[in-house]
Amino acid sequence: MLIAIIAVAGVLVSLPWWLPDRIVAVRARLFARVNGEEGIPVPGGLVGVERFREVYSHPAANGRSRGAALSDLFWYWLAPGPEMHQEHLEAGERYDAVARATRDLLAVPRAQAEELARRCAARALEGVHGLVRLRDLMMPLWAEFAYELVFGRPCPREARDLITGNANDVVTSLKCTGLRHMRRRLRLTEYLLDRLPLVRRPLPAGLTPREQAYYLQGAFFNTAVVQMSEAMAHLLLVLARHPEVQHAARTGDDHYLDQVIAETMRLYPLFGIAHRITTGDIRLGEHTAIPAGSVLCFSYPEFHRAGFADPDRFDPGRFDPGRSGRPVKELNHIPFGVAANRPCPAWRLAPIAMRVAAREVLDRYVLDSSVTHTRSLPSRGPCLLTPRDAPHRPRLALAFLRVRDRWEDVWRSLVQLVLGTYMVWDARRQRLCERHFTTEPENRHVHPGPRNGS
Ligand code: HEM
Repeated sequence: MLIAIIAVAGVLVSLPWWLPDRIVAVRARLFARVNGEEGIPVPGGLVGVERFREVYSHPAANGRSRGAALSDLFWYWLAPGPEMHQEHLEAGERYDAVARATRDLLAVPRAQAEELARRCAARALEGVHGLVRLRDLMMPLWAEFAYELVFGRPCPREARDLITGNANDVVTSLKCTGLRHMRRRLRLTEYLLDRLPLVRRPLPAGLTPREQAYYLQGAFFNTAVVQMSEAMAHLLLVLARHPEVQHAARTGDDHYLDQVIAETMRLYPLFGIAHRITTGDIRLGEHTAIPAGSVLCFSYPEFHRAGFADPDRFDPGRFDPGRSGRPVKELNHIPFGVAANRPCPAWRLAPIAMRVAAREVLDRYVLDSSVTHTRSLPSRGPCLLTPRDAPHRPRLALAFLRVRDRWEDVWRSLVQLVLGTYMVWDARRQRLCERHFTTEPENRHVHPGPRNGS
C-alpha cells in the first residue's frame, strides 16, 4: 500500500517534467489528423537549406490562400474579414491597393516613430513593478502605437481597450490557450467603421467601408499589435534570463542592442511556418519540379538554426560583423520574410520601435525570470520587474516563478490539446477560405457574424 502511494505521489510530482512534451506531441498528431497532412516542408527532403531562399523567392511561390486547407485555419484565427487581410490576399489590384495603403501609413520619419514609441512605452510602464506577464504588459503600448500610426492622434482609452481585447483574443486562440470570441472582435470593427473618415492617409480604393475596416483591423490592430507584443515579450524575457546580456544592453550602444534583437528573432522567430501555394511549376533540376498547386511550408525555426554553430545557444555576438566575418544579410536570418516574396511591410519600422521601447524598460527596471522560454510562449512571459532604485532581491520570487511555471505548463498543455483540437475541427467545418473562393463574388457574405460566445 505504502509503495503504491509513493509511486502515485512520484508520478504526480514528476508530471511537469514529462507530461507537457507528450501532450504537445499528441496535439501535433491530432492536428495533422483533423487538418490533413498537406504541404512540402522547406527545408526538407525535396528542397534543402541551401535552396530555401531561392524557392521562397521564386515568382511561382506566390499563392497566399487559395488551394490550401491550412488557409482555412489561418482565416479562422484571423477573422473577422480574413478575406481582406493583407497577408491573405492573392496578388492583383486589390492586394496592390491594400499594400500601398499599409506602406503609406507605416512611412513615418524615424525620429517621429522613436518619439511615438517612447511616449507609448512611458505610458504603459507608469506605476508598473513586481511580477508581470510581458506580453500583457506590452499589448496596450502597441495598441496605442498602432492607433496613432493610423489616426495621427493619441489613442483614447476606449479604443485601447477594444484593440487589446481584439489582439489578445486573436493571439490567445492562435496559441490554443483560449477560444475565439467573435463578438469581442466585431466590437472593434464597428468602432473602426464609425471612424474611417478620421484615418490620416487614404484607405485602399475600391473597397466597401466594411472591407476598409476589416483591412485596418487585420493589418494594424491585429497583426501589428500581436507581432510587436510577442517580439517584445521575447526580447524582454531573453534579457531577464541572461543578466550579463541585460547589463551589456543597458550600458552598451545601439549596435549591441540590435545584435540582441537579431539573435532573439533568430531563436524565437514569430512565424513558425509561412505557407505559399505555387501558381506555376518550380523547376529544381533537370528531372525534378514542384508542380503548380503545391503547398510549400517554409519553416523559419529550421532555417534559422541551419549554418550556425551551437544553434540553440543564445549568443548575440553571432551578429557582430567583426566576429562572424560575414554581412548579416548573408546569414540564414529572415525575421521579416524574404524581400522577393511579400516580406513584412514593417521590416524597417519594427526594430526601430522595439529598440526604443526596450531602452525605456531597461532604464527603469532590472528584469529577472526563471521560466521556460519557447517560441510559442503560451505563458505570456512571466517576469519580475524591480525598479532600478529599489533593493534587488529576486531569489524567492524566482523560485516561486520556476515552480508555478512548471505546474502551469501541465494545465495549459491539456487546455491547448482540447481547445486546439476543437478549433482545428471547427475551422475545417466552416471552411472560410475554401468557401470564399468557390462562391460567386456577388454571393459572398462579407460579414461573418458572431460564432462563438462573447
Ligand atoms: C517584430 C515585429 C514583426 C515581425 C518579426 C514580423 C514578421 C513578419 C513576417 C516574417 C512576414 C512574412 C510572412 C510570410 O512570408 O508569409 C510578415 C508579413 C506581414 N507583416 Fe509583419 N512582422 C512584424 C511586425 C509587423 C507590424 C508592426 C506590422 C504592421 C502593419 C506588420 C504587418 C505585416 C503584414 C501586413 C504582412 C503581410 C505582408 C504581405 O503579404 O504583403 N508586421 N511579418
